[in-house]
Amino acid sequence: MIEPSARSREIRYAVRDVLAVAAEAKRAGRKLYPLNIGDPLAFDFKTPPAMIEAVERAMRDGRNGYGDSIGLAEALDAVRADAGRRGIRAIRRAFLCSGTSEGIEIALASLANRGDNVLVPSPGYPLYEAVLHKLEIECRHYPLVEERGWSPDVERMAELADARTRAAVVINPNNPTGSVAPRETLASVVGIAAKKGFLVIADEIYDKLVLDGPAQPPLASLSPDVPVLTFNGLSKAYLAPGWRMGWGILSGPEKEVQAYGDAVEKFLRARLSSNHPMMYAVKPALEGDQSHLGRTVETLRRRRDVTQAALTAMPGVSCVPPAAAFYAFPRLAIREEDEEFVRGLIRATGVIVVHGAGFGQAAGTRHFRVVFLPPEEVLKEALGLVRDYIARHAS
Ligand SMILES: Cc1ncc(COP(=O)(O)O)c(C=O)c1O
Repeated sequence: MIEPSARSREIRYAVRDVLAVAAEAKRAGRKLYPLNIGDPLAFDFKTPPAMIEAVERAMRDGRNGYGDSIGLAEALDAVRADAGRRGIRAIRRAFLCSGTSEGIEIALASLANRGDNVLVPSPGYPLYEAVLHKLEIECRHYPLVEERGWSPDVERMAELADARTRAAVVINPNNPTGSVAPRETLASVVGIAAKKGFLVIADEIYDKLVLDGPAQPPLASLSPDVPVLTFNGLSKAYLAPGWRMGWGILSGPEKEVQAYGDAVEKFLRARLSSNHPMMYAVKPALEGDQSHLGRTVETLRRRRDVTQAALTAMPGVSCVPPAAAFYAFPRLAIREEDEEFVRGLIRATGVIVVHGAGFGQAAGTRHFRVVFLPPEEVLKEALGLVRDYIARHAS
C-alpha cells in the first residue's frame, strides 16, 4: 500500500466535500440545486467575448509554449496600471499565476517557516488554512464579528500577533459572508502590520462585485509604507474561473519587500509559467469594455435581494445582508452541528449548500453558505425547499 502523507490527512475543503453527499442524493433520484460553488459560469453568466477572442488569437498565433515565468509584459503593465488607477502606489512587483490559488500558495511558501504563524479570518476562504497546513505553518484565526456586519475584529488580530507572525490575510469583500470591511478597519489592519512588521495579504478577488455602496479602495492604497501583497484575477468579476488566471501585486517600501519579492519570483520560475494563452486576456479584460461588470452587479443585486428575503423569512434563521460578491452566510438556531444539518438538507431536498464549520465560525454558532448565482426562479424554488426542511426539522 502506498501510504499518504500525514499532512494530507488534515486537508479539508468543505466547498467540494459536500459533493459526495450530493452524488448520493442524485443516485437516489433527487433533482440537485447547486448553491455551493462560486463559479458564475455554472449558471447564466458568460465570459466577455473580447477576452475569448484574445485567447483564441493567442492560440492561433502560436502562443502555446511556456510563457514568461513572471508573466506577459503587456498583461503585467495592465495589472500595474489598473492598480495605480485604484490608488496603489509603491508597486514593486507584479506577477501572473494559475489562479490566485497558485499565487497564494507561492506567497505563503516564500514567506514563512515552521514555527511562524499567519493570521487568517474566521469565517474565511478555506484555501488559506489548507495551504498553511500543507506548508506546516501555524494558522491563527482572527474573528469577523457577525453582530458588527462581519467586520474583522482588529483588537483580536493585534492580540494574536506575536514575534513569529509573518502575515495577516484580509479577504475583502469576504467569502463566505459577502461582507465589505469598513475603510477604518482596513486602516487599523495596516496600522497593526506597520507596528508589528508583518506583511498584509489582501485578497480582493471580489472587489469589482460590490453590490451596495461605493467601490472599495484596495487595502494597499491606504498606505505606501506597509508591505502588502494584493491578489486579484479573472475568475470572478471577469467571469473566467476555468482559465486559472490570477495575479499578485507586491507594494511597499522597496528595501522592505525586495528580498521577499525575489523569493516569490524564484518559486514562479521553478514552476515555469502560468497558462500562456490566457495571459493575453488580461489586458483586454482590464482595459477593454467593462459593461459586463454593471450587468453582472445588477443581476447579482436582484438575486441577493431574493435570497436575503427568503432567508430572513425562514424560522430560526438570521442573515447579515451581503453587500458584495455572491455569497450569503445565514445563521441557524439549531442544536445539531451545521455539517449534519447540511447533509440532511442535501439528502432530503437536493439543495446543496456548504456548512459554516467549513469556513470557520464562532464556537457554538451554526451557519451555512448560500451561493446566489443561480437565476431568481431557481433560488426561490431551492430556498423554498430549505424553508420547508427547516420548518419540518424544527417541529
Ligand atoms: C476569497 C477567494 N480567494 C481566492 C479564490 C480562488 O480564486 P482563483 O480562481 O483565482 O484561484 C477564491 C475562489 O472562490 C476566493 O473565494
